[in-house]
Amino acid sequence: MKGYHDIVGDGGSRILEQVAEQRTRITEGLARVRHLVAVGSGKGGVGKSTLTLHLAGALRARGLRIAILDADFNGPSQARMAGVQGALFVPGSHKVALPRTSNGIGVFSMGSVIPESEALEFESAAHGESQTWRATREFALLGEILGAFEWGALDLLMFDLPPGAERTVQYADFLGPTTSFLLVTIPSEVARGVVARSVAALSKGPHHVLGYVENMSGYYCRDCDAIKPLFVSPDDSGLEIPCLGTVPFDPELARLCDMGVPLTELPATPVGQALDHVALQLLGALDRKPER
Ligand SMILES: Nc1ncnc2c1ncn2[C@@H]1O[C@H](COP(=O)(O)OP(=O)(O)OP(=O)(O)O)[C@@H](O)[C@H]1O
Ligand SMILES: [Mg+2]
Repeated sequence: MKGYHDIVGDGGSRILEQVAEQRTRITEGLARVRHLVAVGSGKGGVGKSTLTLHLAGALRARGLRIAILDADFNGPSQARMAGVQGALFVPGSHKVALPRTSNGIGVFSMGSVIPESEALEFESAAHGESQTWRATREFALLGEILGAFEWGALDLLMFDLPPGAERTVQYADFLGPTTSFLLVTIPSEVARGVVARSVAALSKGPHHVLGYVENMSGYYCRDCDAIKPLFVSPDDSGLEIPCLGTVPFDPELARLCDMGVPLTELPATPVGQALDHVALQLLGALDRKPER
């Protein structure tokens, strides 16, 4: 059996060339994408996936070209929410074509290929370092997806991130400083605390945080057409980043997410107006982003 010291160079794996080739594929594939935006939080269940999809919908309604990469490989929600469950990955003109929602948003989600009853298991060979190993496999997959799909000419490519403050930073490190971050919180001190931790962690690197959105900011009662309180918490979030807007909880939005149907009544309801407002704030923040 060969020992570590018997391996000469890369042992014939061409690992450096492979990495360089993948980097080139990714750079070429994203060359016509104007903005890369990662929607994260740190906290789970606060509406990252919902806001990713419906902000994309609001921007799409304004004529922008948008795609979503559901980077939550183990808990992919976009396939169901965007209505692309069971969508087939078919060859495009030179890479794999992106499945599209009925309103024309390109969506990659692991949930299109793996049924909800099945978990995506990253084979784990190193138990002691399984966290590192898992993250490595996850990012290898992210790199493959970025390189393999036809992103084309886009105004925005949005990444729907998984929960976890430390994973948010791992994604930031992988995606690099060209990707901007939009953080999602809800008006609870618990969630705000986790988001504050993500902000602190992101600020240690060269990452650009555009601001945050406060989701579930009140409950929209369709019967009385009024927004009622949902969480009892101070108005001041304490987060030292810009607030790009608030979005109420609307049971109809939750229902549409479960059914995989876009919100078509955008300007007509408080939640639609709120999403449209945040979408415009997001564009404004992207335009103000300093060049690197
Ligand atoms: N403003 C809202 N109005 C109504 N329902 C909402 C709203 N925001 C989120 N939801 C619902 O709350 C649930 C959780 O939202 P979502 O899956 O988007 O959270 P998440 O932060 O992406 O979760 P995870 O951390 O698991 O990725 C979903 O069922 C979604 O439809
Ligand atoms: Mg999610």
